[in-house]
Amino acid sequence: MNVLGIETSCDETSVAILSDNKLLAHVIASQDFHTNFGGVVPELSSRAHLQIIKPLLNQALEKSGLQLSDIDLIAATAGPGLIGALLVGLTFAKGLAFSLNKPFISVNHIEGHIFSGFLMKDKPEFPFLALVVSGGHTLLLHVKSFSQIMQLGTTVDDAAGEAFDKVSKMLGFGYPGGALIEQSASKGDEDKINFPVAELKNKYNFSFSGLKTSVLRYIQKNYANNKIIPESDKNDIAASFQKAVISALLKNTEEAIKNFDVKNISLVGGVAANTKLRREMKKLSVKYKKSVVIPDSEYCGDNAAMIAFRGKTLYESGRRDDLKATAYPSLDENYFEPS
Ligand code: KG4
Ligand code: ZN
Repeated sequence: MNVLGIETSCDETSVAILSDNKLLAHVIASQDFHTNFGGVVPELSSRAHLQIIKPLLNQALEKSGLQLSDIDLIAATAGPGLIGALLVGLTFAKGLAFSLNKPFISVNHIEGHIFSGFLMKDKPEFPFLALVVSGGHTLLLHVKSFSQIMQLGTTVDDAAGEAFDKVSKMLGFGYPGGALIEQSASKGDEDKINFPVAELKNKYNFSFSGLKTSVLRYIQKNYANNKIIPESDKNDIAASFQKAVISALLKNTEEAIKNFDVKNISLVGGVAANTKLRREMKKLSVKYKKSVVIPDSEYCGDNAAMIAFRGKTLYESGRRDDLKATAYPSLDENYFEPS
């Protein structure tokens, strides 16, 4: 079966063609121009998706060696994400499905991330723990099957990636901040500043807003009156901040490993591209004799391969969406079943 996947939830336009379990084509166009605005501008994002989606589809078809008529199923992200951006991909996908008379599946973006480990050679085995760390979400999940996803914890305020982006802005690095913070942190001393890790009533929940404020206070206190922050101090702040985020993510994951019967751990989402987080997660899994699945960085950030894969599993479980399927602004709240 040849599945066409389309992803346009934020600032990446992506098209993938998955044939059974082989990825025949995967193209991603990142909207780098948002850097100039310090964050994603929704209207500009929608327009950029609209401009590039058709050429990107043609590029993917050419790479795959297939014709549109060879596609058997079309899957597109329907949310959560920026509503205008989502509507571009979703409407394009529905139009294709209608004109080609092929089945269509709308995919939840987070579910795409959760199962992105299946794009790797060594795949997750059920039941597994999934730590989803992206720009909009931080979720710890007990994944029992393709249809049973139990939520253990989530963030009560900022997402992990959002914290990286905000601290990056404070240090004058720009957007998106994750990779820039990581680069700076690699040159800094992570033990220089003791930034706090939040303690919450639900031991699987996360909070990064206090940490973000501590970084801000530290900068305001030590570099008052717009005093320039020396490069080496920026590196120490980035490293100490990164250490605090990673330790919060690992603390809850370790707690979940102790309390839930899981075969392995899967670390997914944009922040999973972070080298230190990947390394620390591998160490944690060795400690508990679990295997770990972390997608290659191409599949950590937003991509259509994960949408095609998730679309395929939904189709195989009997799901069919009609063309009334719409983009929902957000269904984060209580979307996954509580554990
Ligand atoms: O999954 P994703 O591409 O988009 C969302 O669904 O939100 O995640 C984007 C987030 C951004 O906040 C970005 O700063 C973060 O992932 N990120 C990183 C790294 N690369 C991207 N965070 C930490 N370290 C990285 N190397
Ligand atoms: Zn994402």
